[in-house]
Amino acid sequence: MRSFYIRTFGCQMNERDSERMAGFLLDQGLMPAACEAEADLILVNTCSIREKPEHKVYSALGRYSSLKQGRPQMVLAVTGCVAQQEGEKLLERVPGLDLVLGTQTLHRLPRLLEEAGRGRRVASTEWLEPEDPGLFEIPASRPKNGVSALVTIMQGCDNYCAYCVVPHVRGRERSRPAEAVLAEVESLARAGVKEVTLLGQNVNAYGARNGAGLSFPELLLRVADVPGIERVRFTTSHPRDLSDELIEAMASHPQVMEHIHLPVQSGSDRILRAMNRGYTRAHYLERVQALRRAMPQAGLTTDLIVGFPGESEQDFLATLALLEEVGYDEAYSFRFSLRPDTAAGTMSDQLPEAVKQDRLYRLQARQAEITEAKLQAQKGVVHEVLVEGRSKTDPTRETGRSRTNRPVHFQAGQDDRRGRIVSVRITQALKHSLVGEAIVSPV
Ligand code: SAH
Ligand code: SF4
Ligand code: F3S
Repeated sequence: MRSFYIRTFGCQMNERDSERMAGFLLDQGLMPAACEAEADLILVNTCSIREKPEHKVYSALGRYSSLKQGRPQMVLAVTGCVAQQEGEKLLERVPGLDLVLGTQTLHRLPRLLEEAGRGRRVASTEWLEPEDPGLFEIPASRPKNGVSALVTIMQGCDNYCAYCVVPHVRGRERSRPAEAVLAEVESLARAGVKEVTLLGQNVNAYGARNGAGLSFPELLLRVADVPGIERVRFTTSHPRDLSDELIEAMASHPQVMEHIHLPVQSGSDRILRAMNRGYTRAHYLERVQALRRAMPQAGLTTDLIVGFPGESEQDFLATLALLEEVGYDEAYSFRFSLRPDTAAGTMSDQLPEAVKQDRLYRLQARQAEITEAKLQAQKGVVHEVLVEGRSKTDPTRETGRSRTNRPVHFQAGQDDRRGRIVSVRITQALKHSLVGEAIVSPV
């Protein structure tokens, strides 16, 4: 086996897991293939958060499975959340599939590939003991754009929101020891990385279940102080665990970016309770106020679900009203999707698809207007942008993100400004991003 191709579905946790698997393979001497058709190994890293991403996984697997008919030597592997959920059943369902690897056994990839190479079909989806070091066995990072990197600080989730498959496919919540996180960030900084994003399903509960040495705000500040690191971000935060201490850490340290992704899910107390979210609308709004008192310009984004079982038109209107009241920069919204093993899956008052679709449409139409107004209001404002490189769609432009996490594009100059922080005055608002002019400071 000489070359590999990884196809990734799902969230940033999966993106980071794919980088991790690529690391194991590169350490074994394999090379990335230019495309699927040329690869000796195809790895599909999957997501089962809603039905739609899960369907996409099966159609991708169908394609790879027929690709393999013409290239029988090729090895086909499935990892991630669908792999964990389905286990060996996938070997029956997908002809030509060689290996199924769960969310906690990624570090076994090299060994299991050897077995698969000998013609055995293998599924390894067992849960590890809480203290098993394999959970956080991470090869040396090779960050994609050399500027910005993802760093896992937690695995799993213990929240059991009624709709959510994550606790069932990612296992119990575990925090990575603080020294290991800091050592990884230091090595990234030495490799020239300027920005790190700390990852977990509920990062502000860091250290709560198993002592990790530091609390989340303490860890954040220690990461922000690593020499060479100019920006720190984190995702995802749970509204129930958003402490004053964390807000204070964000507001007081210039290296911590003023953006927070704070999924609200619903604006109705009745539905929030049924979802097992652990906060009320009033608590959520109070936390938003506290954030804005400390950082008036902070970027604020959210996730929302419409059509949760039993959601009435009145509940939905409470969610719409919350959108107005908060004024999010962006909101990612989804129709409730029934997931295996979840509490909401067995609730009796499931809503018809047409009702869910109609609510989603109304919510998205309103948020599109709010997003547009927010972006238009940025005209004339100067943002500090960390340059990530040339724009993919327009190579005459450079692109990066503001402190508030907005994508910002601007005319490329003579020299390569990748990795530098540039002041950009905004001149134009696009649908989800901003365009501006770099302000060249006198030397
Ligand atoms: N850990 C994060 C998000 C995980 S999943 C958090 O706690 O918010 C990302 C988003 O997918 C969720 O915020 C939710 O809005 C959505 N989602 C999760 N399960 C869903 C389901 N069964 N149906 C529809 N949307 C869902
Ligand atoms: Fe899912 Fe809730 Fe955990 Fe987020 S906090 S991953 S929505 S169970
Ligand atoms: Fe999907 Fe698993 Fe992430 S279900 S959203 S890839 S944790």
